[in-house]
Amino acid sequence: MDKLSIVELFSGCGSQTQALKNIGVEHDVIGISDWEVNALISYDAIHTDDGIDYTKELTKIEVLDYLSQFTFSTDGKESCNINRVKESRLRQLYNAHKRSKNLGSIVDIKELPYCDLLTYSSPCQDFSIAGKQEGGVKGSGTRSGLLWEVERLLNNMEVKPKYLLLENVKNLVSKKFLPSFNQWLSTLEELGYHNYWQVLNGKDYGIPQNRERVFVVSIRNDILFSNKNLYRLFLPIFLIFNIFETSPISCHVIDFVIVS
Ligand SMILES: C[S@@+](CC[C@H](N)C(=O)[O-])C[C@H]1O[C@@H](n2cnc3c(N)ncnc32)[C@H](O)[C@@H]1O
Repeated sequence: MDKLSIVELFSGCGSQTQALKNIGVEHDVIGISDWEVNALISYDAIHTDDGIDYTKELTKIEVLDYLSQFTFSTDGKESCNINRVKESRLRQLYNAHKRSKNLGSIVDIKELPYCDLLTYSSPCQDFSIAGKQEGGVKGSGTRSGLLWEVERLLNNMEVKPKYLLLENVKNLVSKKFLPSFNQWLSTLEELGYHNYWQVLNGKDYGIPQNRERVFVVSIRNDILFSNKNLYRLFLPIFLIFNIFETSPISCHVIDFVIVS
């Protein structure tokens, strides 16, 4: 059985790959995208750190020259001047960026490599009830509006991912934001996907947090409707109800449905 190849956009600390590890789905992360220095270093510490310092032979100037090709942020709001970051942190960032196969800030990515599963837990600040609720309308320039970069990248892919997974705050499906959410679902339909979505609470899946989140699982139509693979119709049900699950039975079901 081939391993599932995945790209994690807006990867943060990599809870997407962690969820797949938890449910026992063999996979290769072939690329991630994040721009926040602390998020990238956390991702590396959790998933990719092999203990080797790849900057050992490099001068500070060489490390800076390499990192300057990308856009980073130290506060998650604006791009930062990488020259102001202290040397030890720069070296950590270099290692993290290389090892996690970071493709850089989503707005700078021209093309994504083919992957079976594309995850995109896009920024939620502008949908969240804790924020100003400026929303994520296409072209709005808000951080939550970065969701639409995913449309651009999908449009540029010759072969699109078989599966897409979005996770975001529950407020995304509130009355106020439902029109943009529906616009997003229609966009995915036009791109050739069938969508399933549901609001789930972590506390119902063995997580000690009362945290409601909306999940959208999208399946490429040719995968979903291929006659010999009718069982894939059940994929969203398994995915949605087992996303936080760690029991061996659900692992096998997901493994069978996704990877076979
Ligand atoms: C809601 S969080 C995703 C959290 C993620 N699901 C995790 O497992 O931690 C959104 C992420 O998008 C990242 N982000 C914001 N602007 C970005 C950009 N221009 N390019 C790539 N990632 C960006 C943030 O740094 C943050 O880590």
